[in-house]
Amino acid sequence: MTKVEIDELIKRVAVKAALETEGEPEPGLTSEINWPVNATINRGLEGAISNTTKIGYVNGAKGWLIYRGLNCFDLAEKSSFEETTYLLLYGHLPSRAELQGFNDKLIAYRILPDAVLDVLKAMPKTSHPMSLLATAVSALGSLDDEADDISVTNETEIAIKLTARMASIAGAISRLRRNKEPVNPDPDLTHAANFLYMMTGTKPDEASERIMDASLILHADHGMNASTFTTMVVNSSLSDMYSSVVAGIGSLKGSLHGGANEAALYILEEIGSPENVKPWFEKARAEKRKVMGFGHRVYKAYDPRARILGPIAELVAQKNSESQKLYNIAIALEKEVIEVLGAEKKIFPNVDFYSGLIYNAMSIQTVMFTPIFAVSRIAGWTARALEYLEDNRLFRPRAVYTGPIKAEYTPIQDR
Ligand SMILES: CC(C)(COP(=O)(O)OP(=O)(O)OC[C@H]1O[C@@H](n2cnc3c(N)ncnc32)[C@H](O)[C@@H]1OP(=O)(O)O)[C@@H](O)C(=O)NCCC(=O)NCCS
Repeated sequence: MTKVEIDELIKRVAVKAALETEGEPEPGLTSEINWPVNATINRGLEGAISNTTKIGYVNGAKGWLIYRGLNCFDLAEKSSFEETTYLLLYGHLPSRAELQGFNDKLIAYRILPDAVLDVLKAMPKTSHPMSLLATAVSALGSLDDEADDISVTNETEIAIKLTARMASIAGAISRLRRNKEPVNPDPDLTHAANFLYMMTGTKPDEASERIMDASLILHADHGMNASTFTTMVVNSSLSDMYSSVVAGIGSLKGSLHGGANEAALYILEEIGSPENVKPWFEKARAEKRKVMGFGHRVYKAYDPRARILGPIAELVAQKNSESQKLYNIAIALEKEVIEVLGAEKKIFPNVDFYSGLIYNAMSIQTVMFTPIFAVSRIAGWTARALEYLEDNRLFRPRAVYTGPIKAEYTPIQDR
């Protein structure tokens, strides 16, 4: 067989195939081209419904967030992140024995393989922690011999592994970028406390642990948000759970989604003082610039998560004058934005507006805010990907093609 023979074969079949498929495109469901265009396009898939779920419910008009029937307010008050993750994954609150078994797994899985730490150490300290998180999860997948076993049983185990390790990875990233060695998890600490310990190297006080736990509970699941949908899309092709979660991390990083917590803090720093809020906001409006930490595709009422995180932010802001200053700017900005955009466009603060203020007051670096979101949202990503896998169908929407369809190929020497 020679290259000339292959060239001739391709030429022969291509000419025949072109002749056999000649004609005008027809509109309809069997085509990506609706010609003439007669499709309704919901930009950003707004309003599109892709599946049913029993995992969680967001009611944007009421400002409700419900996990498996339980209100997020109840869970923030009475539950723990470990218990909430179990609830999302298995559909019921665990018994003492079930929670103990789940905890034992988290303790065992929290320890990171040395190879993952080596990969993180080989990366530049300037990399964004979300990119490092994706790199580390990808490395975990490569190290797991069972990664390609996509049975629900194995993928559930991977979900638990990833829930445990996302916090360990984020902790290690936070330390490595500050030239500090990662610390090993402590089996006697809760998930929230361990996470803070692995970031700071110091066992947290009870108040900090409680705040982190509540924040992790409130971020654990949130309907068909972009990163959850991304994770599900990848998993629906029967890819492995690690690859699906890497994709979810990529989606969460963006400033319209999880990255907004980081972006919101930068805005508060940019504003600089409560007196500067009004002129800053007027300029932002004139420039059609979005105020990060405000607005939501689904909530047209106050974000229930912000209802809890707002007062926590107020409390922790009292820790020092810098945090108090940022909080005062935030309150002034919230008032201004709601006055102008609340009535006009139903824009209110979202979860990312207050979470960043809290983490900042807890002395967590701003670039670590979105990884904290991932440490929690891993629960929702994996629970929903697993639920969908039980009755899987490949996600595959269509696009309306608006380009030419009968262009001539021009050889490179004639272009
Ligand atoms: C979350 C978000 C992406 C939802 O977007 P969406 O449903 O696609 O809504 P759009 O971006 O189309 O916005 C609709 C209108 O509200 C305005 N708007 C939305 N969010 C806004 C914000 N944060 N600041 C100012 N205006 C905003 C848009 O400019 C648009 O106005 P227009 O109709 O006059 O053009 C959007 O509100 C946003 O970008 N918020 C800032 C980022 C953020 O906090 N993300 C975290 C979400 S939890």
